[in-house]
Amino acid sequence: MTIATALSATELAAVRADFPLLARTVRGGRPLVYLDSAATSQKPQVVLDAEVDFYEQRNAAVHRGAHQLAEEATEAFEDARAAVAGFVGADVGEIVWTSGATAAINLVSAAMLGSTLDAALGRGSDASRRFVLGPGDEIVVTEAEHHANLVPWQELSARTGATLRWLRVSDDGRLDLSDLDEVVNERTKVLAFAHVSNVTGAVAPVATLVAAARRVGALTVLDACQSVPHLPVDLHALDVDFAVFSGHKMLGPTGVGALYGRRELLEAMPPATTGGSMVEIVTMERTTFSPPPQRFEAGTQMVAQAVGMGVAAQWLGELGMQAVAAHEAELAAEMLKIADIPGVRVIGPSTVGVGPDGLPDRVAAVSFVVDGVHAHDVGQVLDDAGIAVRVGHHCAQPLHRRFGVAATARASASVYTTVEEIVAFREALTGVRAFFSVD
Ligand code: ALA
Repeated sequence: MTIATALSATELAAVRADFPLLARTVRGGRPLVYLDSAATSQKPQVVLDAEVDFYEQRNAAVHRGAHQLAEEATEAFEDARAAVAGFVGADVGEIVWTSGATAAINLVSAAMLGSTLDAALGRGSDASRRFVLGPGDEIVVTEAEHHANLVPWQELSARTGATLRWLRVSDDGRLDLSDLDEVVNERTKVLAFAHVSNVTGAVAPVATLVAAARRVGALTVLDACQSVPHLPVDLHALDVDFAVFSGHKMLGPTGVGALYGRRELLEAMPPATTGGSMVEIVTMERTTFSPPPQRFEAGTQMVAQAVGMGVAAQWLGELGMQAVAAHEAELAAEMLKIADIPGVRVIGPSTVGVGPDGLPDRVAAVSFVVDGVHAHDVGQVLDDAGIAVRVGHHCAQPLHRRFGVAATARASASVYTTVEEIVAFREALTGVRAFFSVD
């Protein structure tokens, strides 16, 4: 592994000390081993403090009101936007606050539907024509998507008459690119894909996919939920058109996320939600809209959460995402040793390698099945040992169907996870089949 140096033991101990929840015990005093960070991460004290501080000292609605609190709240909100933008290699005006990644994807798909309706009614700007979809157009996703990056595109296809197509997944859990040039073709208008699969942990070949989309003039939408908390992400360098990520998976609060859009695309895109705070002039007949990002932020915003997400971005940035990625690559390698346990099958890449960008080619989210034992039962035995994993389809039913399983258990790490915790997980998993007498 040539990836940058991982965290030292001292650094990791200091990281863990920042997360109050990690100190608690579960199930009769057992230390908590939290391996469900892909579902939601724990939060460092600075994030919790930032939210409390906001409510104690600065609470006010933003971008309205002439009083000092409104000024301070607006400054905190916009500083957080700048912190998040800097963290993902975007310009500040390219980050739109949303309630989460799902809302961000729906914002883009709803704007496309709105543009399509506008065009049918002879309204809408010339610039918004590039978002218009209709019969003969194609939207491409992948079989690896979680439902948040699949269902909105299914609905958009159904409502516009466009066709939904998808890239398949190979037996090793990576995208099958053998028919890329056929699937992404001159009819493709949108290519939406996950940077990192929440099930297999595999990192997608972003450069190849973006190049394919560019060749045919399609817009790219990157679901970066599972990459932003775990890998250095530079959206300008990745050259995607849109990207989404959520606060709660990157050590920030729930209820907040971000949409990244290239500036000229956000300028051209009509709002999906309308109301207060996104307008310039309103008469009884019509309204002119604010420039982005405010155009997409109707109504009272989730200010405390945004402030918390900004602090989470700063916290991760100060630690250094190269070191985070290197630490988590070690954790992934430790996790993958479960494949040596009789009866355990990993769904997804079985090794951690180095991608063309010098970063790990998979993250520490490992889904698996145990022969003869239902995933929920696996989860329960692990829970008895104080080990929290996710069980079920992880909001990715098609991918589970692809592998012929209804459910898997998934262990997923974050920056605060230790090798010792992964060893404890492996040991507990080793006893699962015996517990159910299926050895
Ligand atoms: N996508 C989230 C997960 O993987 C919900 O758990």
